[in-house]
Amino acid sequence: MWEAGAFLSIDVVEAALSAAMGPWRCLLLLPLLAPALRAQQQQFMEYVERRLTLLEERISQWYEQSSRYSSELRDFKNQVLGMLETAEKEREALRAEAEAAAVRMERLEREVDYLETQNPAPPCLEVDEALMEKQVATAKQRKNEKYSKVTDCSDTIGSIRAMKILKRFGSSSGLWTKDAAGSTEKIYVLDGTANDTVYVFPRMREFTLFSATRKAARIKLPYPWVGTGHLVYDGHLYYIRQQGSFQVIKFNLANKTVVDSSVFPAEEQIPVFGLSPFTYIEMAADEEGLWAIYATKEDEKNICLAKLDPSSLDIEQMWDTPCPRENAEGAFVVCGALHVVYNTRLPSRSRVQCVFDVSGTLSPDDASLVYFPKRYGSHSSLKYSPRERQLYAWDDGYQIIYRMEMKKKLEL
Ligand SMILES: *[C@@H]1O[C@H](CO)[C@@H](O)[C@H](O)[C@H]1NC(C)=O
Ligand SMILES: *[C@@H]1O[C@H](CO)[C@@H](O)[C@H](O)[C@H]1NC(C)=O
Repeated sequence: MWEAGAFLSIDVVEAALSAAMGPWRCLLLLPLLAPALRAQQQQFMEYVERRLTLLEERISQWYEQSSRYSSELRDFKNQVLGMLETAEKEREALRAEAEAAAVRMERLEREVDYLETQNPAPPCLEVDEALMEKQVATAKQRKNEKYSKVTDCSDTIGSIRAMKILKRFGSSSGLWTKDAAGSTEKIYVLDGTANDTVYVFPRMREFTLFSATRKAARIKLPYPWVGTGHLVYDGHLYYIRQQGSFQVIKFNLANKTVVDSSVFPAEEQIPVFGLSPFTYIEMAADEEGLWAIYATKEDEKNICLAKLDPSSLDIEQMWDTPCPRENAEGAFVVCGALHVVYNTRLPSRSRVQCVFDVSGTLSPDDASLVYFPKRYGSHSSLKYSPRERQLYAWDDGYQIIYRMEMKKKLEL
């Protein structure tokens, strides 16, 4: 380095001199100027050497620094690589653990399902016994007084035989149903808990095939509905309107006119199901006709039931049932027996856990506990079709059909 610097500096001086004077002048002046030039050259050499030494020092400093940086960088890279490797290993372990937990969970659920079918818990566990007896007695008394209809319908639900998820449509709450009494294949959809437009699909196929509502006719109702307790029965939509008090509107779906309406004769109504606070009156159809399920402040713990005349909307009879409102998410009537479906606030498995039979054949104690299969969220509606013996359910925006296995009430 040093040697090269010296050579370089002489070359530089010579080059500078020759550039300044030209080679022939240099030759002429050389004898005269030689001593002065030598002194200058000497000074210049010293100057260049000083600069070079400085430069060298700086270069060696840079070199040192950069090699330190690069070794630090290498160390850091190795460290990061090591950390990544550990993280990857830990992630694998976590995933394996999560998978194992899921498998265990599923097995447990199956076991619980099995145990539930083997040892059904007694229904209406939370009901005060004395209160229940009193209420059943009053209901029976009222029944003996007024309710004289005798039918040969003697079935009750044995179990949920199958579940079919048809599609996902609309908002998280709503209802879908066929006509509970007529023979039409039409599917009626009331999306949401407050609206005025009913979708009518010609058949199940159109409802399930198309994601849009292209294949649906729309019927605009004269007043908006409230809740999910409405019913299609024998060509009419029976729906609930709130205008201060609650009204049942009977709407003819063929000529799209209001045929009748009546103020529901209960005072101080409260939401009928604890877990579905948007519904105040649930209209239901069974093998015997039309029912309304509701609740009032007077007995705010339990659910009430009324039998309705489908043509006049008159109430034929009312019952206080022993079925609690708390944790109820829906209800339906099968062969004159109210079946209330319960869940928990954080949705788990729904179950029919309280049954009230107006004929008195089924006592709440001997009704079997019926569990629904595992689902998405909570049922915002459960519509029983007496014609098909199945339930049309709206579960957090999913439309589901539950097929039911029936059995005779007396075989219990
Ligand atoms: C009914 O629902 C539709 C679509 O969800 C919405 O656009 C419309 O505003 C609703 N109508 C009423 C009266 O709430
Ligand atoms: C609609 O049909 C119902 C039942 O068939 C009938 O009573 C009513 O008069 C009809 N209304 C109109 C406007 O045609």
